[in-house]
Amino acid sequence: MARRAATVTRTGTARPQANPLRAGLRLEKVPEPACIVVFGATGDLTHRKILPALYNLRRVGLLPPETTIVGFARRPYTDEQFRVDLKEAVSQHSRVPLQDAIWDDFAAGIFYQQGEFHEPEAYRRLSQRLDELSASRGTRDNRLFYLATPPSLGPTIIEQLGHASLDAEGRTHGWSRIVIEKPFGQDLDSARQLNRDVQRVFRESQVYRIDHYLGKETVRNLLVFRFGNGIFEPIWNRRYVDHVQITVAESLGVEGRGPFYEEAGATRDILQNHMMQLLSLVAMEPPIAFDADDLRNEKLRVLRAIDADWTEERITRDVVRGQYGPGWVGGKPVPGYREEPKVAKDSTRETFVALKLHVQNWRWADVPFYLRTGKRLAKPATEISVQFKQPPLALFKGLRADPEPNLLALRIQPDEGILLRFVAKVPGLGLDVRSVNMDFTYGSSFVSDAPEAYETLLLDAMLGDASLFTRADEVEAAWAVVTPIDRAWEAWDQGGQRPAFPNYAAGSWGPEEADRLIERDGRRWRRL
Ligand code: BG6
Repeated sequence: MARRAATVTRTGTARPQANPLRAGLRLEKVPEPACIVVFGATGDLTHRKILPALYNLRRVGLLPPETTIVGFARRPYTDEQFRVDLKEAVSQHSRVPLQDAIWDDFAAGIFYQQGEFHEPEAYRRLSQRLDELSASRGTRDNRLFYLATPPSLGPTIIEQLGHASLDAEGRTHGWSRIVIEKPFGQDLDSARQLNRDVQRVFRESQVYRIDHYLGKETVRNLLVFRFGNGIFEPIWNRRYVDHVQITVAESLGVEGRGPFYEEAGATRDILQNHMMQLLSLVAMEPPIAFDADDLRNEKLRVLRAIDADWTEERITRDVVRGQYGPGWVGGKPVPGYREEPKVAKDSTRETFVALKLHVQNWRWADVPFYLRTGKRLAKPATEISVQFKQPPLALFKGLRADPEPNLLALRIQPDEGILLRFVAKVPGLGLDVRSVNMDFTYGSSFVSDAPEAYETLLLDAMLGDASLFTRADEVEAAWAVVTPIDRAWEAWDQGGQRPAFPNYAAGSWGPEEADRLIERDGRRWRRL
């Protein structure tokens, strides 16, 4: 992830770089001053993620003092009202307590622009305001547009930005970039259409499609772990690996996002993006360099190698969908999905999906990848586990039970760390063996706090480093894997073959069929 920063003439506070893959004593770069325009400025994402991330970047000196933020939304706010609103949001959601002096300095660069998203006049006014702010605050006509709006508004905003020439670069020597939140489309066709809409206005190099999982420290560490250590790469293949499991488990329900979730479901909300990204990082070949194109080329090759030839028979056999019913989570009773606000009483939307995939290339042929994700599961746990093949056991004949094979578990969250399981002799006169764990945890090995994913990603977008953002072809390749499954389910539901939902209790580990999916192959889900 080479940060090819724009020329840095500011002297922000530089912090020593932590990535061992970066040579020598390079320092973190501070981006050029810019104006960040947030569409959907009064929404949840702006409050919970974007503004706290920008505040924290500014707090540690990674954003220059000229940094300017313009919130664009429909509500009639003044600059001052907007600042008050954001101060409360940042106090509530920042990972470190808000400091008044830093906030005041930061807030002096926050402005509000009221406007309707479809109205050309609003963009003309925005453009004028950006010119004024660029002159008064010295943001050198650099602009980062952030779409924190519902996905349906994306094409309109992009088109209007084009009409107002706000996409133009070099017009007055600044850059112009756009950050687009997931979900990027609803299926393969709509993602392609959205890519066409975006590319009619912006060049691909100006587009930053966010998948916040890529900004998580532990996910970034996956690359460091795989390619910065000599001992794992030689065994990272079908000769040594029996299978890979990827779990993204949440104990939360849909948290008042009923209407969104009724559209999305676990497949579009998590599987198509976060899980496909985790899979591609685990399975990819070493890139030639840690730069945006090399990294994304390798991830794309993995996605393209996934066997997406889904027949009905294969979907029935290798994919399990589920929906939670009422149950208990953290000692409290919780309602079932169909009882959540604004969810249809007979909804067939899946809140859980488990499946088996194959990456058909020389490294991974015949190694199954088992993926599962769900809401209202027993506990939050995101983990990738690589299970190695059992060694020949003839030596250990007569043991009470076979020792468990080696396992490498990369815990993405919570309790971030890496665990290696191996077999050891139980002390004593006999030859009894048992599996033991060697466990590394971030919390005890590093004293410093990890930045939030949004801090990493926003900084990268401002530096012009797209390595942690998804490219158009990558997004489409991920949709190509999951769309046929979604389509088949829809057709079955419409044809009267509706699933018997709910099929798992909130607080459990998902439907029993998900256990059978893996147990049929003589394996089982790792207990998390
Ligand atoms: C989002 C999904 O992309 O990721 C949410 O829309 C989900 O449904 C969230 O809860 C999980 O993110 P994290 O960072 O909490 O694991």
